[in-house]
Amino acid sequence: MENNPQGARFPVARPRRLRKTAALRRMVAETGLSVNDLILPAFVREGIAEPVAIASMPGVYQHTVDSLVERARELVDLGVPAMVLFGVPESKDLEGSGAYDPDGIAQVALRALRDAIGDRLVLISDLCLDEYIEHGHCGLVGPSGEVDNDATIEVYGRIACAQAEAGADIVAPSGMMDGQVARIRSALDEQGFCDTAILAYSAKYASVFYGPFRDAVNVTIANNGDRRGYQQDYANRREALREVALDIAEGADMVMVKPALAYLDVLSDVRAAVDVPVAAYQVSGEYAMILAASERGWIDRDAAALETVTAIKRAGADQILTYFATDIARILRNG
Ligand code: PBG
Repeated sequence: MENNPQGARFPVARPRRLRKTAALRRMVAETGLSVNDLILPAFVREGIAEPVAIASMPGVYQHTVDSLVERARELVDLGVPAMVLFGVPESKDLEGSGAYDPDGIAQVALRALRDAIGDRLVLISDLCLDEYIEHGHCGLVGPSGEVDNDATIEVYGRIACAQAEAGADIVAPSGMMDGQVARIRSALDEQGFCDTAILAYSAKYASVFYGPFRDAVNVTIANNGDRRGYQQDYANRREALREVALDIAEGADMVMVKPALAYLDVLSDVRAAVDVPVAAYQVSGEYAMILAASERGWIDRDAAALETVTAIKRAGADQILTYFATDIARILRNG
């Protein structure tokens, strides 16, 4: 009979028995984070000679093509399987033409990465217009001032082909336009890029946590940065399942929930509902909060990175896009 602190005559459950040593805890851990789960988001900027630090994201840089290739080699050495690439062009226009120009910065960088590292790293290309367009919205703005959905997805089809041609394994449309996945799939297939996969940012919420990203890609959005006309309302949970189902029906090979930490309920629902890989994006603001608190000595940076990314995996993410990817890979390797 157990020594029962409540004085009852039956043994009490003692879950602490399995927490006694590190080896016991490791044996019963339900979630194991692996380097294979990680995807590093990276920025490449046109027309700079040296990497430029991003003030609101300490430790993250706008890369030159050369420094990006170095970063990619580091990922390969650490065993991180994938990078998602964002281009920052030197000049913008009203069509966002840099996004599909074969000599646009993302395409130039994709070719350089492919030449340097072959197939040892999965190259994912963010597919959007905001970095390339003067007003900073994710699509073409019509005369009414609204983002024109159907005109925009035509351009997305062109961007997808330019990125596939430059060597992207996966294109990742992040603009939340209706029908974007179907349009991109058919554009890719028409041009013979049948093997290029689509990672859809399916459940992407209009979020304050993208703030630092706008520094990272030099974007200021017209009408106070309001994207609520196309990104999801954070009050909604069921709606994410509808967005995900539509994207899969349109041909998405993988889907994403974004941001991650404030949306673990959504992530868990999506994981239970679908059979394709589900990614989650720990976005710039999530990174910046941890960095800011750690710089003040209020929180331990590595421990916070590990706890949040493990929580995102526990909630159901198969892949995690995180600015901590190389830090976590090092922690996993060195213990
Ligand atoms: C849009 C895009 C955004 C992010 C990724 N793709 C910004 C937005 O929708 O406003 C945010 C990523 C981050 O915050 O880390 N191209």
